[in-house]
Amino acid sequence: MSPRLLLAGLWLLLAPTAWGLANCPNGCECDDDTLMVNCGEGSLDVLPIALNPSIQRLVIKNNKLKTIDSSMQFYSQLQFLDLSHNDMVSIPERSFAYHARLQQLHLDHNKIGQVSNRTFAGLSTISVLNLRGNLIAELEYRTFAPMLKLEELNLGQNRISHIDPHALDELASLRVLYLDDNTLTQVPAQLTFRALPSLAELYLGTNSFASIPAGAFEDLSGLTRLDLRGAGLQNVSAAALRGLEGLRYLDLADNRLRAVPTAALQHLGRLEQLSLGQNDFELIAADAFAGLRELRRLQITGAPRLRRVESGAFASNTNLEQLDLSANKQLSELQAHAAVGYPHLTSVLLRENQLQTLSEHLFPWAQLQTLELADNPFVCDCQLLWLRHLLLSRNSSAAVLCAQPANLRDLPLTQLPESLLGCAHGASNQQALIGVLVVGCAALVTTLALVVYTCRRRMRDLLKGHSALGRKEREYQKTFSDDEYMTRPAAVAGGGAGAGGGGVHPASGYPCAGGYGSQYLGGRPIPVTEL
Ligand SMILES: *[C@@H]1O[C@H](CO)[C@@H](O)[C@H](O)[C@H]1NC(C)=O
Ligand SMILES: *[C@@H]1O[C@H](CO)[C@@H](O)[C@H](O)[C@H]1NC(C)=O
Ligand SMILES: *[C@@H]1O[C@H](CO)[C@@H](O)[C@H](O)[C@H]1NC(C)=O
Repeated sequence: MSPRLLLAGLWLLLAPTAWGLANCPNGCECDDDTLMVNCGEGSLDVLPIALNPSIQRLVIKNNKLKTIDSSMQFYSQLQFLDLSHNDMVSIPERSFAYHARLQQLHLDHNKIGQVSNRTFAGLSTISVLNLRGNLIAELEYRTFAPMLKLEELNLGQNRISHIDPHALDELASLRVLYLDDNTLTQVPAQLTFRALPSLAELYLGTNSFASIPAGAFEDLSGLTRLDLRGAGLQNVSAAALRGLEGLRYLDLADNRLRAVPTAALQHLGRLEQLSLGQNDFELIAADAFAGLRELRRLQITGAPRLRRVESGAFASNTNLEQLDLSANKQLSELQAHAAVGYPHLTSVLLRENQLQTLSEHLFPWAQLQTLELADNPFVCDCQLLWLRHLLLSRNSSAAVLCAQPANLRDLPLTQLPESLLGCAHGASNQQALIGVLVVGCAALVTTLALVVYTCRRRMRDLLKGHSALGRKEREYQKTFSDDEYMTRPAAVAGGGAGAGGGGVHPASGYPCAGGYGSQYLGGRPIPVTEL
């Protein structure tokens, strides 16, 4: 005796008594007060026919239902029906013809191969229809018409390769549409979207589009979220995202983009979140996100070829709050830029890159609440001294390990004594440079002095020969004595000396000019602090 017949027999026997425990199949909970039936995981393979016909909520998930049979028509008061995770291969036409109160229908994760414009006839008040995880290959002409109240339609994870341009007609209230994880090769026609004036969220990821026609989403002016993750895109042309002025969330990750689509993104003045990781670009150019003044969160992770983020890459995005640039296996260069403030930035994620060093001027590091730097081959030298200070002040000791130099490998940056970072070594280099300068200037001055001294006698002879030489000039000659030649020549003769670029004092442009000149001559070493 089949369970179905058994149930039917029971129903006949018990029908005259109250609806209740007796009519509730094994493994189900039936509540006649709340009018709910909930069947746990089990092996029901047909709809129970003897349930209270007044039930409003029926859940038979994770069972073995093969189809929806005519007993469905008994339950015309249903508002919520969940038959997900069963083995249904088809839904007979007009299965829901008497279900004018049904608001949510969950048929996801079955094996349904086809739906037509007669499958859902009668569902005039439905707001959520979930067909995710089935085997639907095509959306036919007016399949969902008229579901004037439908707000969410999930067609993700099917095998849809063709969508009739009128398939979604009359879904005037639709706000959320999932078409992700199908086998679409073209973005649905503009006409398809024209029927969806209320659409706010569109999921088109995991398809194979290659490109997006110009103005493809132009009629979706209310769209706030567009998901094109893993959509096989090779480029996003300048006009592809035209008309999406209200878009706030955009996911373009996991495509094959060879450049950041700067021109296309410029249309999105209200964009707040952008995900662009797992693409093929090698660099993020200066002002790659121009026009995105509202951008709060930017995620570029797992881009296998990304090597360089150029100076000013985020210059227009001064409202950034979170920047995630982690797990870009070749990213070695984050070029610092001048004077761009990010007053709202609180989170910077840079783990699992190829960074060897970091500029102190890249971001306002001290204001961050979250900073991730683990798994980078940092070279622990003087350039990271600032980072050591920062990490110590933040109490984050473990995050940054040195990869180089060899003697510091795998040591945490924060635990190195400052002296090991080689900053002292850098200072002695500076001293050496000063030494060279001193010696060079001294040599120059000495040479000049010798030249003047050698010529002195000849000059005097020359002057003596002139009877017309005035008294004043003779006095001048006298005061401009040998001693003074020794201390003044740099200032007197300096301009023409051209003592080689390296020795030019940065402030005056003259070698050894002014006060420093005489100090050098005195042979006193200049303390570093005075420079
Ligand atoms: C259903 O679709 C067929 C074509 O597939 C069409 O001829 C018919 O008019 C449609 N019915 C409704 C009610 O839209
Ligand atoms: C974008 O990619 C598609 C597919 O590879 C190609 O046909 C098209 O020419 C590309 N467009 C641009 C502007 O590069
Ligand atoms: C760092 O940690 C120590 C103890 O582990 C604690 O006393 C100190 O307040 C912490 N400092 C900051 C800035 O969190």
